[in-house]
Amino acid sequence: MKTPSSSLSSSQTIALETRDSDADRLMSPSAARNRAPIAELLAGILPENAQVLEIGSGTGEHAVAACQARADIRWQPSDPDAQSRRSQAAWASEADGRISAPLALDLREADWFADAGAPDALVCINVIHISPWIVTEHLAAGAAALLPAGAPVYLYGPYQEGDATAPSNLEFDRSLKTRNPDWGVRALADVVAVFDRAGFVLESRTGMPTNNLSLVFRKREAS
Ligand SMILES: C[S@@+](CC[C@H](N)C(=O)[O-])C[C@H]1O[C@@H](n2cnc3c(N)ncnc32)[C@H](O)[C@@H]1O
Repeated sequence: MKTPSSSLSSSQTIALETRDSDADRLMSPSAARNRAPIAELLAGILPENAQVLEIGSGTGEHAVAACQARADIRWQPSDPDAQSRRSQAAWASEADGRISAPLALDLREADWFADAGAPDALVCINVIHISPWIVTEHLAAGAAALLPAGAPVYLYGPYQEGDATAPSNLEFDRSLKTRNPDWGVRALADVVAVFDRAGFVLESRTGMPTNNLSLVFRKREAS
């Protein structure tokens, strides 16, 4: 069954990708394509026995793939969208009790991280282009507040890189902005600058399928 591509949270629209469903379990065609390469990359960077906090977990399929790739980690999914949280809870049984009950985290709120536990790593996949820029700023600030020095933040999605930007990402940017002028494919340099100001260094930039990037930031030691 196809589900709508957006739902309402508070008084504003929250963007969701196209999804199929089997009872509460939602299945995202994009997650079906990217979850294996993402899980493989995450498996190489997450600390041993990491407690991972994911922002905007969507269907919950990335949590399952990452936990299946790394038997030592535990995963905290989250999403402002209630239907997505139900799907995350329904998928959690695939990971031997290592996926917690989802949190209702909305990064439009400055204090979103107040009850987000004590993670060792943060993961955010395909969220920052389809939410207002303040979400990226709050993501970096919350990561700085929550994570210990040396901890990773993993971002996945499309980016603009000046003249090197893929035409498909420029077109995607235009279509996002017609849906909501506050959305858009972010400039990699702007994202790096926000994380730099929050105390993170960009450790790696990895090309992924269909002109997406995996970015790994590390929290610097306090100076
Ligand atoms: C395109 S979907 C990606 C879902 C999932 N991460 C994936 O890659 O399959 C965007 C997700 O971002 C979430 N989202 C949108 N606005 C958000 C916000 N303000 N704070 C946290 N998550 C948000 C949506 O609810 C949705 O689950």
